[in-house]
Amino acid sequence: MPLSKKYIQSFQQMIFDWWKANKRDLPWRHTFDPYKIMVSEVMLQQTQVERVLTRYIEFIEAYPTVHLLARAKTSDVLRLWKGMGYNRRALYLKQTAQAILELHNGIFPVSEEALVRLPGIGRYTARAILVFSFKKDMAMVDTNIRKIITNFFFQDQKQPEKVIQEVADKILPRGKSWEWHQAMMDFGADSQLKIKDQKSKIKKKNKSIPFYQSNRFYRGRIMDLLREKKYEHETLLEELVKTFKKPKSFFEERIASLVKDGLAVQKEKFIRLPS
Ligand code: ADE
Repeated sequence: MPLSKKYIQSFQQMIFDWWKANKRDLPWRHTFDPYKIMVSEVMLQQTQVERVLTRYIEFIEAYPTVHLLARAKTSDVLRLWKGMGYNRRALYLKQTAQAILELHNGIFPVSEEALVRLPGIGRYTARAILVFSFKKDMAMVDTNIRKIITNFFFQDQKQPEKVIQEVADKILPRGKSWEWHQAMMDFGADSQLKIKDQKSKIKKKNKSIPFYQSNRFYRGRIMDLLREKKYEHETLLEELVKTFKKPKSFFEERIASLVKDGLAVQKEKFIRLPS
């Protein structure tokens, strides 16, 4: 069934009416600086808004411009990232800042194709930069927006990416791209908050949620140790074995993968953050 103009209009009206009463005041909504938008979007990719709030301000205070981030020491950027998880994001931000200086004379490109060539910048982040900094009329789809679209426009919740994107393109109100996407993000986050409420109820009854200790968890703990100091390889292994009661080989693999990803450096007997 083709989407009727009328349904699209009433959907847009509903979203904007809801937003009028529920919009959030978030620090990255007070700027059109593509560098700051990029930092906020990269942080928001895998971290919840409430946690990003203070960390974003801290990051921008430490590195207020793309030039200052490009000149920063990687180890300092990684230390500032502590507690955020997915440390590769910090590495990519720093590398992208360097690429912006070296390849684009310090000026963010205003094209999706140029942006996705930068380290760690995917389709979504590229579009977020174009929409939130340059008010481009292009539709972006993240997890929350996808959820809204499948709920309001489909019976079957499993839809290919291409189909979701087509609907996203059709329902975008031209000339109001900035407001539209902020509104959709807030609307999507609202249902997330409801899930969170329920989760915290369960948590109260059960004291804590038993988190499955993923590969990411152990990588994170190794990074935490390296943020404090450099370690002799053997000492680091012993420390990890003692704390987590897992075999040496388990941590050897994880250390090797951090080195491979450029998040840690092995030099002679020592493992440390990249300088
Ligand atoms: N998640 C990603 N971008 C966002 C934004 N601009 N506002 C709120 N949540 C977001």
